[in-house]
Amino acid sequence: KKVVLAYSGGLDTSVILKWIAVTYGCEVVTLTADLGQEEDLDGVDAKALRTGASRAYVEDLREEFARDFIFPMMRSGAVYEGRYLLGTSIARPLIAKRLVDIARAEGAQAVAHGATGKGNDQVRFELAVNALAPDLDVIAPWRIWDLRSRTDLTAFAEQHGIPLSTSSKQYSMDRNMLHCSFEGGELEDPWCEPGPNSHVMAVPVEQAPDTPEYITIEFKKGDAVAINGEAMSPASIIRTLNTIGGRHGIGRLDMVENRFVGIKSRGVYETPGGTVLHIAHRDLEGICMDRESMHLRDQLIPRYSEAVYNGFWFAPEREAMQAFIDKTQETVNGTVRLKLYKGNAFPVGRTSPNTLYCHDLATFEDCATYDHADAAGFIKLQGLRVRGYAQRVKKD
Ligand code: ARG
Ligand code: SIN
Repeated sequence: KKVVLAYSGGLDTSVILKWIAVTYGCEVVTLTADLGQEEDLDGVDAKALRTGASRAYVEDLREEFARDFIFPMMRSGAVYEGRYLLGTSIARPLIAKRLVDIARAEGAQAVAHGATGKGNDQVRFELAVNALAPDLDVIAPWRIWDLRSRTDLTAFAEQHGIPLSTSSKQYSMDRNMLHCSFEGGELEDPWCEPGPNSHVMAVPVEQAPDTPEYITIEFKKGDAVAINGEAMSPASIIRTLNTIGGRHGIGRLDMVENRFVGIKSRGVYETPGGTVLHIAHRDLEGICMDRESMHLRDQLIPRYSEAVYNGFWFAPEREAMQAFIDKTQETVNGTVRLKLYKGNAFPVGRTSPNTLYCHDLATFEDCATYDHADAAGFIKLQGLRVRGYAQRVKKD
């Protein structure tokens, strides 16, 4: 028997590694993914092996994450419940995919993860595994073991010689190149303002510079390809925008959201680069996207976002929506100029080789191609039904 475990190197997944080995008496192979969480991963493989893993994979997945997960999602304009840019949600299917790949390569029968039974992450990992490898079992120790608290976990760790990290964390955090999330601690009181340690990727807006910064972002087919004229890979785009957006305190969100399992949960998120990208992309669409295609796509945003949030990335409906969205993005080419200032990214200019903006039509000056008189008939026919309803139904 062999199990592949998503292993961060932290206390929880170290305990899980040991617990699986002793409970099932099986071999445990670990996967630690670099998704741009800016943690030093040197030595995690050694730690996994010391804790009882038979093999420890450490993989740099940053470009794949940006190119095949973040960018397709950004094309869609996804925002969950109108606000959350899905930074954690979008990372789970990639981790699940690699768990499955390694399980195949290693001839394992199961994969395992350290998400709790109360959250979204368990659903995302497992639905992705279901979609990619319906025959694989999933082990979720948090749902089955009798370790009930932090104290139980620490006791188990001590008993099995697992080193305890000295920094006891104030929050449950999840960081990758797209965002950093904070949950728990004082945030469990929705009325309580988040403390100073909930700033990692972006400065508090009070500390943002008093002078604005201007940047340009160039897009091809809905994907950002260059910043300030410099061509970059998807991961470099996000990294660079994190640095720039972070110093202006952009992309902070504090909300109570609906988890898929039915729990309301308060989270704080920092998504500096993703927020700049989201605003710039949306702005560019204004100039180069057909109206009806845009409005149809916009209707899909809540559905697409729910699919990502709820863990249906590798599901037929997400893939079908993606195909439609990608088609609408063929004309989303051009450059947006933004002013970054005190937590905000203001688009101040946009230009596109596919521009649908017609100065002649839009101008308040006189133009030859538009006859004002045509609008009278347009309104008259649009109003036919409205007038009829008013006359026949809305009597009083
Ligand atoms: N509430 C967010 C989401 O569901 C963030 C979850 C953070 N996950 C974590 N393991 N700390 O996407
Ligand atoms: C967890 O419960 O493991 C983290 C929170 C979530 O998945 O929503």
